[in-house]
Amino acid sequence: MLYGFLEKRASGKPVTSDMVAAMVQNDLPEPQRTGIMQALGMKKPEEQAAAAVPAAPPPPPFTPHWQGKSEVMFEMMLNEVPEALRGVFRGKLLEILRQKSKGGSVTESHVTEVVQEIVPEPFKTTILKKYTELGDVDLSCIDSIIARHGKAQDSLTYILHDTQETVGFLPPEALRAISNKTGIPLSAIYNVATFYKSFRMEPKGVHHLKICNGTACHLKDRDGVLSNIEKMVAQASAKKVTMEKTLCLGCCDCAPAVVIDGEVAQGPEAKTKVEKLLA
Ligand code: FES
Repeated sequence: MLYGFLEKRASGKPVTSDMVAAMVQNDLPEPQRTGIMQALGMKKPEEQAAAAVPAAPPPPPFTPHWQGKSEVMFEMMLNEVPEALRGVFRGKLLEILRQKSKGGSVTESHVTEVVQEIVPEPFKTTILKKYTELGDVDLSCIDSIIARHGKAQDSLTYILHDTQETVGFLPPEALRAISNKTGIPLSAIYNVATFYKSFRMEPKGVHHLKICNGTACHLKDRDGVLSNIEKMVAQASAKKVTMEKTLCLGCCDCAPAVVIDGEVAQGPEAKTKVEKLLA
């Protein structure tokens, strides 16, 4: 029977392997056809067609539109992954976020869901606890600040200044976000943020005190008069009062001088005012 099939296909020409393959595919009945095709490692026509279709190119990397603190939270989650694996995990986690957000804006809830669903213990508990400590700091301004000043290291002080102006201080999450977005090492950012006295790493209190450290105030017993104020403020909640020691305040006739919420006060009067603020 097989010879008969081949004879028809060859029509007097030499028999080729293509002819044998065509015979197996088209002339043999089932189940012999499938059995012989499998034995010869041949693909069915539909399988050949599927194999011929080139695989769809992988989707471009997801560039999310982060909302609120979602990016900071994402980076905190990634920081729990060993550094050598972070690149791979970043891609996989972004892909999950793409699906959760349907390619749109990534919210804080999306990131929290990812942590809850795929991060194993004890990392899950650690990360979720850190999220609760983030408080109400909104870091969504950082993108526009970096867009304004650029990512070069020369722009760092401007970026930090504008971030502090907007956020109120420089929380660690803000410094981390700036590092991730600019590529400037976090250690370099910490160096600058802690070097300049004008940068605050803690939130500003409700009241603001500037205590003069200038020469004229020292000559007027600055330490004796103002040290009590410093002690009182040091014991108070940082949320209530922010204290800053400065050079000459430009009001040496009031020495030893303190500026309380923008108003100059002289030593004893300043002490009374601060006592009232802290009461
Ligand atoms: S030195 Fe204190 S106000 Fe000038």
